[in-house]
Amino acid sequence: MADTVLRVENLQAYFFTAEGTVKAVNDVSFDLHEGRTLALVGESGAGKTSVGLAIVKLLPHPGRVVGGRVLFGERDLTRLGPEEMRQVRGREIAMIFQDPVGGLNPVLSVGAQVQEIITTHLDVSSGEARQRSLRILAQTGLADPEAVSSRYPFQLSGGMAQRVMIAIATALNPRVIIADEPTSALDVTVQAGILEDLQELQRRHGTAILLITHDLGIVAQTADDMAVMYAGRIVETGDVRSVFSRPRHPYTWALLNSRPRLDLERDKPLPTIAGTPPSLVDLPPECPYLPRCPKAVSRCRTEPMPPLTEAAAGQRAACYNPVFHHDDGA
Ligand SMILES: Nc1ncnc2c1ncn2[C@@H]1O[C@H](COP(=O)(O)OP(=O)(O)O)[C@@H](O)[C@H]1O
Ligand SMILES: [Mg+2]
Repeated sequence: MADTVLRVENLQAYFFTAEGTVKAVNDVSFDLHEGRTLALVGESGAGKTSVGLAIVKLLPHPGRVVGGRVLFGERDLTRLGPEEMRQVRGREIAMIFQDPVGGLNPVLSVGAQVQEIITTHLDVSSGEARQRSLRILAQTGLADPEAVSSRYPFQLSGGMAQRVMIAIATALNPRVIIADEPTSALDVTVQAGILEDLQELQRRHGTAILLITHDLGIVAQTADDMAVMYAGRIVETGDVRSVFSRPRHPYTWALLNSRPRLDLERDKPLPTIAGTPPSLVDLPPECPYLPRCPKAVSRCRTEPMPPLTEAAAGQRAACYNPVFHHDDGA
């Protein structure tokens, strides 16, 4: 296995709201490896974005990390002060968000924004910064970097704006990229191109990527490993191929079977998962999927949710009664 670049250990992040404590991230652990993409998947509200924001210490009020560690080399990021963390975010860990235009400065040209991040962090002349910025813009798949450089954010299409965001995020060759639904706001054709370019950058620099998405098609296309999140917890992890072919947690199984499929007859309704996700306020210690789970056994009602345990080689599930596959052990 490739080197571990970032290790998230028992991370807990809560929002302290007037309605109660929202346990958005509830004892989450995973590793990011050099040159690999881990997809964090799950329904809306599962806590995916909160995981990303907690790692880089950008959780909005009233959110707070209340437990766990985020190990990045020798450092535990949860212990860094604001200034040290700003340095890490600028240079070593980059974030790409869903809304590219909102992430850009409206009053600066594209070129100025890419050059700014370079001159802020590296000791280079403005001529050199300009050359570098053109090179980076070209690397992110923008056809005419010179022309794009002189434009302002409002003059960009959504796809171009997201490529510019990626250029800014990757300008300093970060070791980690956290991409939160980076293409959800874009056309499917534009999506594919951007994800390919991100993968190309990853191949070139060995970047570790945390790809946050609710789109299983994107996971299948771009991720190496996946972690399935439900109600603030990770219920299953493994390499994408294994999890897709033999999901172990009943929630993963339901999620994979609720995908729209091309071979379904038109007039048949798409399968959906019965019931709704629980409120994250004052969650009980039992498995949060219990009320919706068709495979629940008595232990699930009387004991806390089990930890992630090995279900097959390279695959772990947090379940007392994991899904059995007919070719298991074959
Ligand atoms: N600023 C906030 N204040 C209070 N609750 C929040 C805030 N942001 C997110 N949450 C809650 O945290 C939970 C996880 O949200 P989020 O991390 O955005 O999930 P996802 O990205 O998987 O859709 C949800 O219940 C959401 O309502
Ligand atoms: Mg989100």
